[in-house]
Amino acid sequence: MRALYWNGVNDLRVGTVPDPTIVNPHDAILKVSLSTTCGSDLHFIDGYLPTMKPGDVIGHEFMGEVVETGPEVRKVKVGDRVVVPSFIVCGECWYCQHQLFSLCDNTHPKPELQVPMFGYATAGIYGYTHAFGGYAGSHAEYVRVPFADNDCFHAPEGVPDDQVLFLSDAAPTGYMGADFCNIQPGDTIAVWGCGGVGLMAQRSAYLLGAERVIAIDRLPERLRLAREKCGSETINYMEVDSVVETLKEMTGGRGPDACIDAVGMEAHGTGIQHAYDSVKQALHLQTDRGTALREAIMAVRKGGILSILGVYMLMDKFPIGAIMNKGLTVRTAQQHGQKYLPRLLEHAAKGELDPSFLATHRFSLEDGPRGYAMFKNKEDGCVRSVFAP
Ligand SMILES: NC(=O)c1ccc[n+]([C@@H]2O[C@H](COP(=O)([O-])OP(=O)(O)OC[C@H]3O[C@@H](n4cnc5c(N)ncnc54)[C@H](O)[C@@H]3O)[C@@H](O)[C@H]2O)c1
Ligand SMILES: [Zn+2]
Ligand SMILES: [Zn+2]
Repeated sequence: MRALYWNGVNDLRVGTVPDPTIVNPHDAILKVSLSTTCGSDLHFIDGYLPTMKPGDVIGHEFMGEVVETGPEVRKVKVGDRVVVPSFIVCGECWYCQHQLFSLCDNTHPKPELQVPMFGYATAGIYGYTHAFGGYAGSHAEYVRVPFADNDCFHAPEGVPDDQVLFLSDAAPTGYMGADFCNIQPGDTIAVWGCGGVGLMAQRSAYLLGAERVIAIDRLPERLRLAREKCGSETINYMEVDSVVETLKEMTGGRGPDACIDAVGMEAHGTGIQHAYDSVKQALHLQTDRGTALREAIMAVRKGGILSILGVYMLMDKFPIGAIMNKGLTVRTAQQHGQKYLPRLLEHAAKGELDPSFLATHRFSLEDGPRGYAMFKNKEDGCVRSVFAP
């Protein structure tokens, strides 16, 4: 089959790779209908997340049609149209039983690559480094879905593919980030980043009852989507002296009740702190540029909630003192998609959540490298590049 694979830092290629096969009795094979880019991919494309190998098929946000099932698969059948969360889960372990799905104990075949960094291994994920399991990704004609009964969710009739697609990763991540904020009537939620994840976090914050959502980014077309598609107020951080001061002014001096970081380790920034982070990142002395996260920590009101969706690894000068002395609650995770999918499918079926506006650019799989270049460089207002294999 044809697939888009990582060949080296900033080098993606399309080629012919072996078709996936049923390896375990709980597996299904999906014919991929749509697969899309995620900000998380940029971290290994740019070389900040290690343990990729040349030839690794990438992609983890996808939907498609079941074409083959293993003998133990019960709930999904050949011909079903399904969406699959990006983390692979067994459904049986202590973590799955507690709905902490991205922490599943049974789906990481190479824990020795993660335990030294995190203490314990997380769940595996499609197309996202060997440190996260080394599974083949979804930017391909076919993909193997282990534990198909837990991980395939039926797409509701009448909800088109390009809406269902984003219920795989961007929407559940954003929804989880808003859920972490324990939103109360009257709350103001600030969201750093207006990529797919940040926009879904903004929309979800309103769905969960926020009174005001304030979005922060520098890209005018993404800030426009935040206003028009999510109803957010916006701050272009290139146009203000200080995001923290601006947020204070907008909230009567108290600050947002919760702050969501939907930017992560490749934050853009200005000033001395950003220069320091960039040099250390280039020399591999730290992996992360922390501009957005530091701002969120400073801006959130005393006793507020910090919800971290952006992916991080190692950061220097992390303001733990502000977190401790201000009494902040920090909540973070890789997305627990299997927890949120039933709710999100219901919102989509009722027309309350339509993430299809994220699909700004469409490509054939053969054009994958160009799709990623546009997504990475945010060319032509690209929010997500969608591939139809
Ligand atoms: N927790 C999870 O399960 C999960 C799932 C998906 C993605 N992610 C992570 O979420 C983050 C965002 O993903 P995405 O797909 O939306 O990425 P993206 O690259 O499309 O969007 C990131 C946005 O952040 C903006 N930004 C950069 N620096 C900023 C700053 N200093 N202040 C405010 N905005 C800034 C960029 O302009 C861009 O619009 C990434 O780190 C990704 O790895 C996490
Ligand atoms: Zn993702
Ligand atoms: Zn499990």
